[in-house]
Order: sequence, then C-alpha cells, then structure tokens
Amino acid sequence: MSNNKFRHIAQTIDNRILEGLYPANTKLPPHRVLASELGTTPSTVAKAYSLLAEQQKVVSFVGKGTFVCANSMLENAIQATDIEREYNFSILQPCLIYNQSTLQNAFRQSAQDLSLDMLGYADHSGHMAHKEAGAKWARNFGLNVQHAQEILLTNGAQNALEILIHTYTQPGDVIAVEQYTYPGILSIAQLHGLTLVSIPMDEQGMKVDALNQALKDHDIKLVVILPSHQNPTTITMPLARRKAIAKMIAAHSTWLIEDDLYGFLNDEVIPAITNFIPEQSFHISGLSKAISPALRCAYLKAPRNEIRKLTARIRASIWLASPLTFNLAQCLIESGEAFTLVNTQKNIARKRQAFTKKALSFLTHYSHDTSYHIWIALPDKWRGDTLMMETQDRQILISHGRFFTSCSLTSQNSPANSHGEYIRLSLMAIDDESHFQQGILQLAELLNDDPKHALTPLT
Ligand SMILES: Cc1ncc(COP(=O)(O)O)c(C=O)c1O
Repeated sequence: MSNNKFRHIAQTIDNRILEGLYPANTKLPPHRVLASELGTTPSTVAKAYSLLAEQQKVVSFVGKGTFVCANSMLENAIQATDIEREYNFSILQPCLIYNQSTLQNAFRQSAQDLSLDMLGYADHSGHMAHKEAGAKWARNFGLNVQHAQEILLTNGAQNALEILIHTYTQPGDVIAVEQYTYPGILSIAQLHGLTLVSIPMDEQGMKVDALNQALKDHDIKLVVILPSHQNPTTITMPLARRKAIAKMIAAHSTWLIEDDLYGFLNDEVIPAITNFIPEQSFHISGLSKAISPALRCAYLKAPRNEIRKLTARIRASIWLASPLTFNLAQCLIESGEAFTLVNTQKNIARKRQAFTKKALSFLTHYSHDTSYHIWIALPDKWRGDTLMMETQDRQILISHGRFFTSCSLTSQNSPANSHGEYIRLSLMAIDDESHFQQGILQLAELLNDDPKHALTPLT
C-alpha cells in the first residue's frame, strides 16, 4: 500500500473532481493542506498531482498551483453567458438580437391564430402541418423528402441524437464519430456506456479509407457525421466525399446519423448524404442555430420502416414535442421569415469572420466565410490549458479543442502545430458588435504575447 499510496490519493482527488467537489478550472488545495486532510505527506500529494497531470486531469503552473482541467463534459464545452462584461466565444448560437423583433411579432401572430387542436395531445411524431413545414425547411438546404410523414419532430437536435443513439445501440456497442465532434454526442455515448471509434478527418471531412478500416475492425452500429460547418472544425464535406461516404456505409450493415444542423449556412446547396442512402440514414435539421435555441425545434427524417420504432421512443421519452413552438416554426417557415433570418445571420457571420481572420491572421485557422465559429491551431508557445487559464482572468470564454475529442479508440492525423492543440471560438454569441470586436482584439493581443504562466514540466 505505502508504495502505491500516491495512487490511492490520486483516486480520491479524481473522485472529488467527478463529484464536482473540485470543478473544472478551480485550483486544487496546496500539497501541505491536502496532505494534512488526507493523513499523508506533502510529497505523496505532489506525486498524486503529477500522476493526475500525466492523465491530463489536472494541470500545474509554475508559481500558480495545480488546476482541474476542463474535460469534454457538455457543461465545460458550452458555457452560457451569465455576466454582461464577459466575452463569450464559447456558446454556438445565432446572434439573437437580430432575430428578436421577428420572433416577438411571430409569437404574437401565432398566438392569435392558435386553433384548439394545437392545445391538445396529438400524434406522438407531431402534427402533419408542422412536419410539412420541417420538410420544406430541410428540402431548402439539400435534403430529399418525398413525404412529410418521413419527418419526426423532436425537442431540438440533441433530443433527436439521443433518441437515435438510444434506439439503435445497447450499452457496450461501438459507434463511429469524426476525429473531433460535437460534445453532446460524446455525452450521450458516455451515458449509454458506448465505445467510440474516432475516425480521422482531412480537409474534406471524415476519411473514407479510415472509415472502411474501422468498419472492418469493429462491429459499428452507427456512424455520426456533421457534414456542414462541422462543429468544431468548420469543415464542409463536398459532394464527392458525401457520395463516397454513402457508398461505404451502404457496403456495410450500419446506420448513418447525418447531423446537418449547420447546413443552412452553406453558400450553395449541397445534397445531403442521406439522399444517397435513404434506407440506411437518419438526417437531423432544425432551427436552434438559424433562429433560436429556445425554440427547441428539430426535424428528424427517418427511413419509412423505422418511423414506428422511433415514434414509440418519442412516446416513451417526451410523449410529444411541444406543438406550440412547432406552430411558431411553421408560421416562420411558411411566411418566408425563417429564410430571411438565415440570410441575416449569414451576413453577420460573414462580417465577424472577416474581422476575426484579420485580427488573428498570424495564426493557422480554419473556417468558411459564413461559419459561426472558427477553429484555431494554437501556436507552439501556447497550450490550451494555459490559454484557458489566462482568458478566464480576462473574462474571455473559449472552448479547448480537447472538449471535442473522445479518444477511446483513436487514430490521429498530423496536426498543424507540434503539440496538436486547438481552440474553437464561436463568433455569434455576443450581441453587440463593438463588444465582440474588443473581445477578439484582446484575444489576439494575448495570443501574440508569451504566456504569463508556464506549465510545470511533468517529472
Ligand atoms: C452539431 C450539433 N448537433 C446538435 C446540437 C444541439 O442542438 P439543439 O440545441 O437543437 O439541441 C448542437 C449544438 O451546439 C450541435 O452543434
């Protein structure tokens, strides 16, 4: 026991981190203090901290102490704004101030027109008129929908992902995700006890040969792909790659989940992967990113033979997605206002991308002109943990690239910097333009400088 005492202490600290007693980014107690609490010596605590640092659970800074690393849990990756002064480059949402008055008017109008049948229970998959509106929305951005019956209504895209993963996997199953992906998918997989295979990407998205190999090596139940303005890398998969991925999926007995929540940002309509394998694929679109995440309106297109199974899952979990917000969504889509809001948001994104790319031109970064976010390879002198620490001191919220990786079974690509660390900046969460610009300039200044706090080398 005595030789391994530091492992036992490390486990105790790790449990405290998991239980939330030591939240992400907080400073751990000094060696001496924890040693006296746990009845051990300061050097044993130091060894325990080193072990946890090796496992990337904590990070130490010279002269500052040891801090809990943020991990890929959703609450770390996506931080809602709670103070006016802060610069929130963490949360991915539309610039709401530009949508507010259209939404206020549409709410008034749809409240006035509310019919009695909207107030009661309905078919669990949703009202047909709302599905028609969803079909119109999704078709507009490249999805083939033959009949609105193929559409199911869910409380946001997260709900659709959860319903699909829950329906088509058992604990212990393997699913394939992109090398970097939306942390909401990682959270579902973790809660369901799934193993993730992380498939390498290139500048066109998931690599086909790597997917082929993974499908040969593992019994993969589901492949999850974000084809447009990928979260977090911003990669948009071109048509040829979409077709090649569809062909690969068709050659194996697996399902595709195509989460195309950012498809409306594409400059030209690109056909959905689902169009090429409609019997083997589920497609998710929705209004959270184009209009407002508060609507919780997503459209899930499923193969006809799967509709009953998925409707049963909706019934068992949420009974019915709220018809009231889908009614509002229908008004916005049918009046064309939803598409006007899309153009407004794309114009803001275009302006903010141009400003950010200029301010951060000394860094390697990836994005399209209308992406909501930008993916930045950190220069060699900066590590993600150090940057998180220093941005926090300046009330700047950013997302560490680590939040977007699973790494249970990973094969890596060569990164654009020697340590392979990235950050994601969301450019749309700040309403005020000059506040946004100030935040970007502060960040640029910080990244141009040398870090104030050096990482303590691991012994
Ligand atoms: C790729 C992706 N899918 C799903 C979601 C969840 O969206 P919703 O708010 O509609 O549940 C997000 C949110 O950031 C996302 O980026």
